Amino acid sequence: MPRFDALIRDCRACTLAPGQGWGLIDDAVIGWCDGLLAFVGPREQLPGEAVGADTRVYPGNGALVTPALIDCHTHLVFAGERVAEFEQRLEGASYAQIAQAGGGINATVLATRAASEDQLLAQSLPRARALLADGVATLEIKSGYGLELEAELRMLRVARRIADILGISVRTTFLGAHAVPPEYRGQPDDYINRLCSHMLPAVAASGLADAVDAFCEGIGFTPAQTRRVFARAGELGLPVKLHADQLSDLGGAALLAACKGLSADHLEYSNAEGVRALAQADCVAVLLPGAFHCLRETRKPPVADLRAHGVAIAVATDCNPGTSPLLSLRLAMALACNTFGLTALEAVLGTTANAAHALGLADRGRLLPGLRADLALWDIAHPAALAYWLGGAGAIQVFSAGEPRLGNSVCG
Ligand code: NIG
Ligand code: FE
Repeated sequence: MPRFDALIRDCRACTLAPGQGWGLIDDAVIGWCDGLLAFVGPREQLPGEAVGADTRVYPGNGALVTPALIDCHTHLVFAGERVAEFEQRLEGASYAQIAQAGGGINATVLATRAASEDQLLAQSLPRARALLADGVATLEIKSGYGLELEAELRMLRVARRIADILGISVRTTFLGAHAVPPEYRGQPDDYINRLCSHMLPAVAASGLADAVDAFCEGIGFTPAQTRRVFARAGELGLPVKLHADQLSDLGGAALLAACKGLSADHLEYSNAEGVRALAQADCVAVLLPGAFHCLRETRKPPVADLRAHGVAIAVATDCNPGTSPLLSLRLAMALACNTFGLTALEAVLGTTANAAHALGLADRGRLLPGLRADLALWDIAHPAALAYWLGGAGAIQVFSAGEPRLGNSVCG
């Protein structure tokens, strides 16, 4: 056993160890060195030689410790907001009608293109801070409101800067195929040509994107256009994810699975064949109850079928200015339970272990020796309470790679 750099004592650990449900350990000690967990177990099993004079000791004061949460689908870098569209939708306009009239995603594209990198950062950072306060230490952020190379790269750079400033992990996704930009209106194939020939290679060369996503939908791109984007991403060595079957069934889940993608997201209209394909290809189903809620959607994702086929289910905020202005991953969990019928354990696995899987990360999402010391401390008695409260106090403290990241004095 190596000497710990730091440990938390007097806590209750929720390890989520495979096959053990919550994997609860009372009166636990959690020790780590070099940012990786070295020991997670009951106090009486703590090896004496692991604690030295220079080991930092954090008093847990009885807190519940879970793996830090992972928000595996957000669009939180953008400029402006879309409150007026929210009011239009309340008066009966649909998301698709607003998009067809030039609003929707394209309204945010205009605002984002007009913002400097620093302005974009200043507007987006508070949203990332809100998620961090809610227990999140790994965050996926998509581009997709630039829709031309420079503005897309600017969004991705802002996402990377957020990681540096907050000291958390950010995984970036290039979503150039989010909407047809205004200058290509009516010529989606020409835009996809441009995306495949110029934008994707430049984004890959920049090293600013960890994955590629697309919006396969009537108001987005066709399956054929999506396949072209994914084929090019594959040539460039970038994994893919998909906004699939959100508003209609275009066979998005099966398309993603055929490309061996990381995750298919939304899935309200996915068919049985798509679910089977996700299971066979070991792709994660990412549920986004915030968008379901705000669009007042009535068709639910096929949770029972996903379960029956053993598809890993993740839950994310989809934080975006149009369909899901949601800044709490715990609230996304509560919505996933109360609206989609997930169990509390499924919701917590969906924002930890399965969310890591959706990002292709094998080094986090549970409290096991060898994994990253990414931890969230909570003032709750049982982890099911993470999906129970609607709002209220966030995490007491969040550790990323063993360092406290919330600017408060608790365990800091
Ligand atoms: O995940 N569906 C497409 N993209 C976002 C919405 C983005 C927007 O409306 O700005 C989503 O719901
Ligand atoms: Fe989305």
